[in-house]
This record gives sequence, structure tokens and C-alpha cells, in this order.
Amino acid sequence: MIAIRQMMFLSLSYDHRIIDGALGSQFLKRVADLLEDFDRPTTNLIAPHAQTDFMDYTFITVNPEAAQHVALIALNRPKELNALNLQLMGELRDALRQLDNNPDVRVTVLTGNERAFAAGADIKQMADKTAIDMWQIDQFSTWDSIKKTRKPIIAAVSGFALGGGCELAMLCDMIVASETAQFGQPEIKIGTMPGAGGTQRLTRAVGKAIAMEMVLTGKFIGAQEAYRLGLVNRVVPVALYLQEAIRLAQQVAALSPVAVALAKESVLQAFNTSLDEGLVLERKNFYLSFASQDQKEGMAAFVEKRTPNFNGR
Ligand code: CAA
Repeated sequence: MIAIRQMMFLSLSYDHRIIDGALGSQFLKRVADLLEDFDRPTTNLIAPHAQTDFMDYTFITVNPEAAQHVALIALNRPKELNALNLQLMGELRDALRQLDNNPDVRVTVLTGNERAFAAGADIKQMADKTAIDMWQIDQFSTWDSIKKTRKPIIAAVSGFALGGGCELAMLCDMIVASETAQFGQPEIKIGTMPGAGGTQRLTRAVGKAIAMEMVLTGKFIGAQEAYRLGLVNRVVPVALYLQEAIRLAQQVAALSPVAVALAKESVLQAFNTSLDEGLVLERKNFYLSFASQDQKEGMAAFVEKRTPNFNGR
């Protein structure tokens, strides 16, 4: 491992001289962090603050073994249509952090129930707040942590995905929708506007015309329209949406977790950088994948005409 570290640093430091300074430094720091993670024994990977017992949660349920290498988190405030209050979002952040550090978990499916994925941020909790209250509560800092999850998250959406619920689904990496799913950003109808990415992620997903109409009128779109617009990956009957999301998760979980995490990061970077910067990160992540045992295993298996066995190292 020491030899690999030295080789990587030599080659990456060399490349650093020919790529843009800021991105190069950031990249080298990330490589250092990543290598540190690879070196650390997996039993120490769970940070002390994240060692919550999965059974302790009030507003979510967590099954870390829903399928092989697949965890399932279900939002669990059915009476309130899974309205996202502060405690629920805190629990979700903690659970995802814990699962991200669990080497047995490779993909998480996030769901609600048949009637609602989530009907938005909790309006009753926010209704009487002042701007300064909102600023001090800083409710979206949990969303920032969730955004940093390295492993893929697949949203399994049935029923309402509105306001923060639609934004939460869009924060996930893929969306499997049931035929009854409805997506919308109706905040405008209660005198406010999306605050957790709705104006940005929705616009990138469905384009300006539709996003503007949804955000300015509060119009909902159904599952089929969401599919046609590219907001969701697929639409299936209600009875199958969770099963289908888990099936998709298993497909990803069978692949190299290292390559999957690097690929996820690279795709997400497409929303944040210029094409040239994105291409630099993509190339570096491609090279970085060659530091993994999984790349050696994957390519050897191809040559030997057998199924690869990826171990996430
Ligand atoms: N916050 C708090 N409670 C909510 C809620 C929300 N976002 N959405 C639904 N509920 C509660 C209702 O108040 C109701 O509770 P009670 O039984 O105690 O009255 C219960 O859930 C069931 O809801 P309804 O009786 O309204 O059910 P319905 O089938 O008639 O209507 C609905 C369903 C169209 C989704 C309607 O509930 C609704 O419009 N909800 C609000 C949607 C919304 O505006 N979301 C945006 C929130 S702001 C936001 O999300 C900001 C951000 O960007 C993060």
C-alpha cells in the first residue's frame, strides 16, 4: 500500500503541474483523504458522533440489509405525509452518514410510503418563524451533509413528492417512480419559494420552461410526464416501485464500490464546473480507479471470461 501511495503521489504531483492550480490542489487533497480512508481499518471508519443505534430513530426506519449490500431508509411520518421536520432531516443525515461508513453497504434506497414520498418541509414547524429564526436554525445544513454522501442513493417515490419532498428526491442519484407519483414545487402557493435546490436541480433536470411553470404556479406533474422530461429513471406499477428500486440498487451494488463512488462524484461535478474542469476531474478519477484492487479484478475477470468479484478496495 505504501508503494501504491508513493506512486500515486508522484504521478499525480507531476500531473498537478500541467492542470489548473486550484482544481489540482483540491484534487491532490482529495486523493490524500481517499488514501487515508483506504489505509484506515474499516472498523474505525464510523465516526463516534455517527454511532446512533438504527433503532433509535423516531421519524425514519433503517434496514442496513434490505438486500445484499443494499440498505433501505423509509421516511416514517405517515400522518403528516412525511413532512420533513428538523428532527427527521437530522435522523436522515445521521443514518446516511452511518451507512456511508459501513463497508457492507454499497447503495441506499430512500423511500416514503405509497401515499407520499414527502409532502415538503414541515409547514407547521416553519409557519411563525422570522427570517432570523430561519437563518439561525439553518435547516438546510443537514441537506449539505446529505449531498456529500459518497455512495449512491436511489429514491423510490410513490404519491406526493412536493416542495422539499421533490427536492429530496432530486438530491438522490436516481429516481424510481410509481405510477401514482406526483412531483411539484408548490411553495409559491404558501407565499414562499423552493429553498432546498428546487429552482436549480429541477431546472437542470426538466429545462427552464417547465421548471419555471412548476415553480411559479405550483403545478404538479405526474410520473409519466416526469419520465418523459427526464426527471425520473423509470415508472412502474405501485405494487412494484420499491422492489424495482431495490433491483436497480442491487445492479449498482454488484459493481466496484470504488469505481461507483468515483463515477458518482464525476457525474455530479457536471453540474458544478465548466466542461474542461469536469473533464479534468473525470480523467483523474479514471486514473485513480487504477489504484483499486477492484479495477485489477474487473479487468482480469474480463480477460479470463469470468464474473468479477469486487471487494471495494
Ligand atoms: N407540512 C406539514 N404538514 C403537512 C404537510 C407539510 N408540508 N403536508 C401535509 N401535511 C399534513 C396536513 O396538515 C394534514 O395534517 P392534519 O391531518 O393534522 O390536518 C396531513 O398532513 C394530511 O394532509 P392533507 O389533509 O392536506 O391531505 P390531502 O390529501 O388533502 O392533501 C397535499 C395532500 C396536496 C399534499 C396537501 O397536504 C398539501 O398541499 N401539502 C403541502 C404541500 C406543500 O406546500 N409543500 C411545500 C412545503 S414548503 C417547502 O418544502 C420548502 C422547501 O423548499 C424545503
